[in-house]
Amino acid sequence: MDLKSKIRVVPDFPKPGISFKDITTLLKDREAYVYTIDSLVAFCKDKGAELIVGPEARGFVLGAPVAYALKVGFVPVRKPGKLPAETVRYEYGLEYGSDVLEIHKDAIQPGQKVVVVDDLLATGGTALAAVKLVEKIGGIVTGVAFVIELSYLNGRKTLEGYDVYSVITYD
Ligand code: PRP
Repeated sequence: MDLKSKIRVVPDFPKPGISFKDITTLLKDREAYVYTIDSLVAFCKDKGAELIVGPEARGFVLGAPVAYALKVGFVPVRKPGKLPAETVRYEYGLEYGSDVLEIHKDAIQPGQKVVVVDDLLATGGTALAAVKLVEKIGGIVTGVAFVIELSYLNGRKTLEGYDVYSVITYD
């Protein structure tokens, strides 16, 4: 399937020079959405996922249906202050300033095999933060899966040592 044709590329969003990959056009297309989720499911199954972890917000839209298809649980990684119970936090550097992500401390059982699922691999900062959070609370990351990979931003380098899968790549 020509999935790329289902992704809307929006120039100069959110700022000049950035060509934004809009997946809403893929999500609303029944065949493209099913194909995408099925592809992610096949990878996660192969990696023996016992739990899917998805970062806010687009990681929810993709991670949750993958978890449902595999009949495993889903755990959200969220921006600070959103999760109500005790959390573990991970701070990571951005070009200007830093960002924080959180996970519930009791979200994963020690030794559980986890695959992180998100929509986009850009610099890899978000995915690495999710991976580190999983590891901090005792999970084992067996893979990291994306719909889109922007290979020119070298996210795979950031995630070196982890098994990375993407459905579509932009070079
Ligand atoms: C986007 C995207 C990934 C991340 C990828 O999320 O959904 O999670 O950026 O970039 P990176 O590889 O450079 O970390 P965003 O922070 O825009 O959050 P949102 O999904 O809540 O809009």
